[in-house]
Amino acid sequence: MYDLTGKVAIITGGASGMGRATSLLFAQAGANVVVADLNDAGGEEVANLASESRNEAVFQHTDVAVETDIEAVVTRATETFGRLDIMFNNAGIGGAVGPLEDVSVEDWDRTQAVCLRGVFLGMKYAAAPMRTAGGGSIISTSSIGGLEGSTGMFSYAAAKAGVVHLTRCAALEFARDRIRVNCIAPGGISTPILFGVGGNDKEEVESGLMRFQPYPHVGQPEDIANAALFLASDAATFITGHTLVVDGGATAGPKSSAPKAGQNRRSRFTGPSFERAGGKLE
Ligand SMILES: NC(=O)c1ccc[n+]([C@@H]2O[C@H](COP(=O)([O-])OP(=O)(O)OC[C@H]3O[C@@H](n4cnc5c(N)ncnc54)[C@H](O)[C@@H]3O)[C@@H](O)[C@H]2O)c1
Repeated sequence: MYDLTGKVAIITGGASGMGRATSLLFAQAGANVVVADLNDAGGEEVANLASESRNEAVFQHTDVAVETDIEAVVTRATETFGRLDIMFNNAGIGGAVGPLEDVSVEDWDRTQAVCLRGVFLGMKYAAAPMRTAGGGSIISTSSIGGLEGSTGMFSYAAAKAGVVHLTRCAALEFARDRIRVNCIAPGGISTPILFGVGGNDKEEVESGLMRFQPYPHVGQPEDIANAALFLASDAATFITGHTLVVDGGATAGPKSSAPKAGQNRRSRFTGPSFERAGGKLE
């Protein structure tokens, strides 16, 4: 397993889903963890569970859209554990949904504030203590929704596309300080953010996800935690400005197009030059 011994990590959205799984995995890997979330009960529970590993974890009530909250959680990390090495800007909401013409400015703004401003603030306040520590790893959660256009959740998709590009820009700016900046673009992952959407329970969500991508596996929060652990670790020392897609092949191409082995009796070759040669290779 990748080792985070001696490192200090802040994980926003740490009370649930991917943030919860990442908090627990980072603690197992040896990091001291600050769990940051709006959800106090869930955040305290995760901090307690993470403290059962080798190291200490604490919870800090945080709204990632609020500048003073992000400043405070960074201060909490440095005052409690003496340094900051890893910032996982992971908190997010589905946000405004609907025909574009019907979405209010307030709903658009709140979506951007949580999903994009929150990431900017995390980068802004993590940089100084990481520079002091001699480097660090900033990871943010984008989405495959930020890589391809879609209808309905356009505000979310635009914010997540912003995370991809902000990641590149920040990577350029912070490289000289040995601060790596990357993001993860998850596909469909079975977390509470999806439960209840359209009236679907967890089982219905998971059977939908099973049909969603080519790889026959329901995406789990631990799949994202593993990707975050890699990007946080020294194994990713030369990786920065990158978007790591973790989607079971959902964005690789259409699921239905793959022939099965043995389906064609022989391999075929097509194209004008082949046809001109009478169906035989010259
Ligand atoms: N589940 C998916 O299919 C999927 C796919 C792509 C991207 N994502 C992204 O993954 C990230 C994690 O989501 P998840 O799937 O684990 O969902 P989740 O709902 O289980 O967890 C999100 C957490 O963020 C917290 N949060 C929300 N707004 C916050 C705020 N303003 N300040 C602090 N905390 C706040 C919530 O309380 C919750 O604990 C989000 O950024 C989400 O957009 C999810």
